Amino acid sequence: MQLFAKLSATTLFLQELVSCPRQVGAILPSSQNLAKAMARWLPLDGSSYTLELGPGTGAVTEALLERGLRQDRLIAIEQSPKMADLLRTRFPKANIITGDAFQLDAMLKHHVQPGSRIGTVVSSLPLLNFGPAIADDFAKKIQALLPEGGKLIQYCYHLMNQRSKLDDHFRRVASHWVWLNLPPARVSVYQK
Ligand SMILES: C[S@@+](CC[C@H](N)C(=O)[O-])C[C@H]1O[C@@H](n2cnc3c(N)ncnc32)[C@H](O)[C@@H]1O
Repeated sequence: MQLFAKLSATTLFLQELVSCPRQVGAILPSSQNLAKAMARWLPLDGSSYTLELGPGTGAVTEALLERGLRQDRLIAIEQSPKMADLLRTRFPKANIITGDAFQLDAMLKHHVQPGSRIGTVVSSLPLLNFGPAIADDFAKKIQALLPEGGKLIQYCYHLMNQRSKLDDHFRRVASHWVWLNLPPARVSVYQK
């Protein structure tokens, strides 16, 4: 991303943070280190879709595409209309949905081609800001969506490696810190 584009994406992120702090849930867009640490867990099978939740200004999206994901195999759900518009400009062939990721079932029907399915979910949603009931409902929805062996890749800002609602529904297969991010983040990989 060019410097000017990066600055204007960061400005938009900060504006959205001021108007919806709980939803945005981070003080800055994800660093390249965090984005790459998420993307390296993406299995590349070519046929299934990857669903990205809370893509924000697209740092993780960019890393997923750099890893080899085709834009037309990416479905992203972002609640901020302005961020969704930015993503449509940056990634014109991707399926960008403006909407609430916690209501994903209804939205996905129109975007997954018949005969295909979602193989991996990559989430930047600030789940810890929404309370245990919403996190539990979210975990159940993703569980129902993924095939056996499918992965949910999620980051959070918890320092300790403590259990979350996701652990009630998935097997955690990896969890590690990314220090070069503000603030440092923990990437966790869950498997159905
Ligand atoms: C921590 S930020 C993501 C940062 C992103 N990785 C980046 O680099 O810009 C969380 C994002 O989740 C979005 N979000 C929060 N709640 C959401 C929801 N219910 N549905 C969809 N997006 C949501 C926010 O608007 C924000 O863009």
